[in-house]
Amino acid sequence: MKYDLDRVVDRSGTGAAKWDAYRGGSHAGPITAINASLDSDGPIPMWVADMDFPAPQPVIDALSERVQHGIFGYSMAKDSYFDAAIDWFGRRHDWEISKDWISTAPGIVPAIHFAVRTYCKPGDKVLVQQPVYYPFFSSITNGGCEIVSSALINTDGYYEMDFDDLEARAADPGVKLAILCSPHNPVGRVWTEDELRRYGEICTRNGVLVIADEIHCDLMMPGVRFQPYGLLGDDLVNNAIICTAPSKTFNLAGMHLSNMVIPNKDLHKAYDDYMVQIGVAGGLNPLALTAVEAAYNHGEDWLGQVLEYIWENHLHLDDFLAENIPQIKVIKLEGTYLNWLDFGELGLDRAALEDLTQLKARVLFDEGYIFGDEGDGFERINLACPRPILDAALVRLKDTING
Ligand SMILES: Cc1ncc(COP(=O)(O)O)c(C=O)c1O
Repeated sequence: MKYDLDRVVDRSGTGAAKWDAYRGGSHAGPITAINASLDSDGPIPMWVADMDFPAPQPVIDALSERVQHGIFGYSMAKDSYFDAAIDWFGRRHDWEISKDWISTAPGIVPAIHFAVRTYCKPGDKVLVQQPVYYPFFSSITNGGCEIVSSALINTDGYYEMDFDDLEARAADPGVKLAILCSPHNPVGRVWTEDELRRYGEICTRNGVLVIADEIHCDLMMPGVRFQPYGLLGDDLVNNAIICTAPSKTFNLAGMHLSNMVIPNKDLHKAYDDYMVQIGVAGGLNPLALTAVEAAYNHGEDWLGQVLEYIWENHLHLDDFLAENIPQIKVIKLEGTYLNWLDFGELGLDRAALEDLTQLKARVLFDEGYIFGDEGDGFERINLACPRPILDAALVRLKDTING
């Protein structure tokens, strides 16, 4: 079916994290309720990484049918759930996953918290590559561990891994774990096979376990192909915990159901034992199971249309800014629906940039610095929204900056 992705669905008042609240910036305070709106004075939210598009129709249909059944007791994943996920990764990524490698998780962020506690002890160091998805930081520090960053190198808006630096940091015997963001949020890189292999070899050679967070793996822009970590060969794969999820792909984040793929039996057992220990190894939400199975089986047509739309939003953003606010540079998008914007030419410090975006323009981005100091002067915009929302935000920005 043809989806009308231009249609704006009013999410305000639904408890949507993106539309009903905002995590303030450094001087704007903690999460507060907001009155988001396109046409009044309320701010326009372009921050939380979910989509303003309804989920695929087959998911909505399957949920409606499941709701009509009326009994929502303790539930577990059936073979058909695992088959749907396994088929998807085989079909889309040529990655053959075995059912006994999979453990479910209530989300990738909780799973990374569990993993830090499972595989590290307090005082260990955990490697990340800033600027990077900021909840990685608390998963490390809440586990009593120390963050070590091998910053990405930014050459004229193209980000690459710093392999010499990675090698040096991985050689520190205190570094036990590395969290890889692949594709990379917020810089939008889709790592090549060569980059991933070099990264994996450095970690594995130095005894550093890899958590590969592949939550954005299905969100590829035209001509870009995702390289699953799980296809890098036994030596690397046996040293990895791979996080997969339907949440970004099909806009199901609120369902809180994702799949951890852990081919190494010992690592897998350790993860499962930890889940038992903290009491989350029991039942799953029946509606989440229904939604995820339907999405992996029948969501492909919807995803194709959504990906085209996001790419058009990216091109539109690029054209609009080049024409109207050329001081803001758009970083090329290879994957994810999160676009990294360089506001550096405006020459504003953190507080002044927040004043400009949040208070004057009333457009809510994720400020770059929350992804690490390397993000200073950047903002992250979410492009998974109907064009009228993007346009409203861009016009406000233009009017504010150009006066
Ligand atoms: C790289 C990355 N990992 C994990 C998540 C969130 O995962 P979950 O909602 O499954 O906890 C996000 C959401 O933006 C993300 O970008």
